[in-house]
Amino acid sequence: MGFLDLISNDIGIDLGTANTLVYLRGQKDKIALNEPSVVAIEVSTKKVLAVGTKAKEMVGRTPGEIMAIRPLKDGVIADFEITEKLLSNFIRRVVKHRYLMKPRIVISVPSGITEVEKRAVRDSAENAGAREVFLIQEPMAAAIGVGLPVHDPSGSMVIDIGGGTSEIAVIALDGIVNNISIRIGGDEMDEAIMVYLKKNYNLLIGERTAEEIKIQIGSAYPPEEEESMEIKGRDLVAGIPKTMKISSVQVREALSEPLDAIIEAVRQALEQTPPELSADILDKGIVVTGGGALLKGLDKRLREETNLPIIIAEDPLTCVVRGTGEVLEDMNQFSKVLIKSRRD
Ligand SMILES: Nc1ncnc2c1ncn2[C@@H]1O[C@H](COP(=O)(O)OP(=O)(O)O)[C@@H](O)[C@H]1O
Ligand SMILES: [Mg+2]
Repeated sequence: MGFLDLISNDIGIDLGTANTLVYLRGQKDKIALNEPSVVAIEVSTKKVLAVGTKAKEMVGRTPGEIMAIRPLKDGVIADFEITEKLLSNFIRRVVKHRYLMKPRIVISVPSGITEVEKRAVRDSAENAGAREVFLIQEPMAAAIGVGLPVHDPSGSMVIDIGGGTSEIAVIALDGIVNNISIRIGGDEMDEAIMVYLKKNYNLLIGERTAEEIKIQIGSAYPPEEEESMEIKGRDLVAGIPKTMKISSVQVREALSEPLDAIIEAVRQALEQTPPELSADILDKGIVVTGGGALLKGLDKRLREETNLPIIIAEDPLTCVVRGTGEVLEDMNQFSKVLIKSRRD
């Protein structure tokens, strides 16, 4: 092992719409950074005030002069400049010796993104200080992170439910055989809860409160015991702060639309799957990753809708970054799954 290996800076990045995670080569069993994909800037000067956790705390609370931006909100790079600022901040925090040796970066991208968007990701990473950038499709990284046999001819199906997108993919022989990517994920669930409360109770709540409700009492299938929680918002009619109690039955009703859309996409993906691979999936089941996999009762619901074995991945929020880490540790073994970045 040479000197340059000792100061290895190579990193794997899961650039998610909700959270960005970074893996540093050589540090197995550890995630170097895990923070929300949010950047707070000063509007007039465009100066970055905070990135990550600190910036997320500002969402919905910022005075006019400060804006908390989620540059990837809808599954694409909506704001190129801000994405670059996010990446360079995170890279700076993880890679300590980047002046000695610029890092090589394996970075996951949604499988539905266009060539232009791929270029934007690659350029961002390069401008943020990468020596070489390798792109990998998110469901592929998730499958590798979960430990699915991606080199095998036998098919594996992964559903990744993130903040801005849900991706369903069938993988075999180092490639994605078929996939469906929809721009509906955890964000739409939060949004659906906000709309529900506004429509039925004239109650205005913020994005973060909606997310808390979803995480605490949200479900995709009736639980053994229904739950309820007290929430705070603003009464639209009286214009004053108000407290009310909401039950898991109501939240499930609010979530039905985005959940139906995800299930419909899973059905479509199954319909598109070649029969030999369908047979594999019937045996092996479907693995669910991403933060959305943590929604209560999602496994039961998917099982009921598809009649297939459903496996919620262990630690679903970190599967993708662990996958990029596996790739980084053995680039030869995984060379076929990479989309080598090209300047053309
Ligand atoms: N316990 C939970 N129940 C339901 N949704 C959850 C839970 N924990 C996290 N989430 C949701 O998961 C999403 C983030 O998942 P993640 O995989 O990090 O997304 P991305 O890859 O797009 O960054 C958010 O919408 C978040 O609200
Ligand atoms: Mg993700």
